Amino acid sequence: MKLVLKTKAILEVAFFTSFALIGCAESFAAPPDAVAGKAKAQTCFACHGENGIGISPDIPNLAAQPALSITYQLIQFRGQQRKGGAMEALAAGLNDQDMRDIAAYYAALPPPPAKFGNADMIAKGQQISNVQYCNSCHGAQLQGQKHIARLAGQSPEYLVTQLKNIRSGSRVDMDGTMGSAARGLSDEDIEAIAAYAASLK
Ligand code: HEC
Ligand code: HEC
Repeated sequence: MKLVLKTKAILEVAFFTSFALIGCAESFAAPPDAVAGKAKAQTCFACHGENGIGISPDIPNLAAQPALSITYQLIQFRGQQRKGGAMEALAAGLNDQDMRDIAAYYAALPPPPAKFGNADMIAKGQQISNVQYCNSCHGAQLQGQKHIARLAGQSPEYLVTQLKNIRSGSRVDMDGTMGSAARGLSDEDIEAIAAYAASLK
């Protein structure tokens, strides 16, 4: 019990530290404009949809993602710290204000619909998510918050790919906290968590 509490405390410290760093970088930003963001997102619609729902299972839903999470992923693609799906080239042409405006547009859209999969897998995924404190950072319903991605209603195929990439280190996360969270997961754990997250609204 003591050990469990300690793990949770460490995760929370890690979470607040990373947010404090990000908070500093944001403080001089102009207010984001979702209307301008929609105009700037026209090139994104071909894959992420005007409604923020990806057109195929390997393309993430952006609808209702926290704006800061979208912005920071775009910054990482532009800086080539994260690679995949030609996103590096697409983000290269965006300045910080473009990213904040586009993020405001997608963040304000209604969340993706819940996907019902195998009930046993979903139950197992929920259990792992609780034991591993995924919700201490991603939110009680894995809805995301601040710079941390929404997992609820996300494509399960996409989630599996990302968790494996984060676990192997081929996707480097911004502060290492997500790398530590993924390291202990087996392939079966990952499949179950993805089914659980996808089933949430
Ligand atoms: C050709 C299809 C395509 C287009 C066009 C496209 N994307 Fe993507 N996007 C992807 C794919 C595929 C991924 C997943 C990349 C990976 O595997 O890491 C992705 C990932 C992302 C992510 C990360 C989401 C997350 O949950 O981590 C964001 C944010 C994003 N795209 C925003 C945009 C924006 C903004 C535009 C327009 C400027 C855009 N994308 C245009 C295919 C596309
Ligand atoms: C200490 C906080 C923290 C914990 C605990 C945590 N995460 Fe994360 N997670 C993050 C952050 C921060 C990111 C963004 C990483 C980046 O790209 O820099 C992230 C990203 C992700 C992504 C990629 C999402 C996307 O749209 O690309 C997935 C999937 C994910 N986490 C699943 C999980 C699961 C499953 C657990 C529990 C086993 C978990 N996380 C626990 C902070 C956390």
